[in-house]
Amino acid sequence: MAEPLLTLPAEPAAMSDAEFDVWAELLRERTGMRLARERRSFLITALAARMAERGFEDRAAYYAHLRAGAVGQLEWAALVDRLTVQETRFYRDAASLDWLRGAGLPALLSGLPPATALQAWSAGCATGEEAYTLAMLLDEALAGTGRYFGVTGSDLSLRALARARRGEFPARRLAPLPTEWRERYCEPLPGERYQVCERLRARTCFLQNNLLEPASSPLPAMHLIVCQNVLIYFDRPRREQLLAELARRLQPGGLLVLGAGELSRWRPAGLERVAQDHLLIFRRRADATVAPAAGTRA
Ligand SMILES: C[S@@+](CC[C@H](N)C(=O)[O-])C[C@H]1O[C@@H](n2cnc3c(N)ncnc32)[C@H](O)[C@@H]1O
Repeated sequence: MAEPLLTLPAEPAAMSDAEFDVWAELLRERTGMRLARERRSFLITALAARMAERGFEDRAAYYAHLRAGAVGQLEWAALVDRLTVQETRFYRDAASLDWLRGAGLPALLSGLPPATALQAWSAGCATGEEAYTLAMLLDEALAGTGRYFGVTGSDLSLRALARARRGEFPARRLAPLPTEWRERYCEPLPGERYQVCERLRARTCFLQNNLLEPASSPLPAMHLIVCQNVLIYFDRPRREQLLAELARRLQPGGLLVLGAGELSRWRPAGLERVAQDHLLIFRRRADATVAPAAGTRA
């Protein structure tokens, strides 16, 4: 049997700095996420919950299991579901979405040949609210133009993606949506629940990826990429590395939407920031020559 790397305390309530650092490093190495020491009790609780499900009593043994080949990889995917925060909402960043609706998308569309199908990506989509919001936005913007669109939501968490694919939400979660979108795109189910309409679900797909492994994101030539409330987990070099990769996947004229304040003083090659100060949105310049993104076919 594999030796545990450290002798870790069996009592879940106690976790030394050294043990915390071992877990935090595993998380950083595999997902790029930083876990601050203040989140120690969150880590202890998440581990205890998952270990109880799997019948482990001792964190050292569980740690060894996680590092043990293919079985460990599968278990890791389940643990990551507990360690990532999948908080999200429909129409979450109203300022950016209002700008896209009023100015950004009309300008983007006016620069595209008539038959172009629009492709959008919600990078770090959690349970799908952001991806479906984009589908509603594009459906409205493209109504009557005869253009097609597709939205891809991606996330690390398999559990979140399974929920996203169902597209079912309690009625109260739809509250932030514009009323006309709620009426047009959401269908009532029994028990105060709604489901995003079949037409939009058919244009929205979800895939698992690790944003820090570009080869796991085969999504080139996007017109719109939204990556909000994800960068906060990564250190600055990884944020910049991820954003450079997203930027490479934009079509000329395509838009990259980040959360305001998520990365100040970022000056990406080939992108220009849109004029509004309170938004963090970049447009890929039409004349920018950018190398093909890693992990994509040219
Ligand atoms: C707080 S949610 C944000 C959801 C949505 N973008 C929003 O703003 O409402 C962050 C999501 O990022 C995902 N995530 C974290 N690290 C990731 C990584 N390395 N690759 C892909 N997804 C990741 C998490 O699983 C989580 O669902």
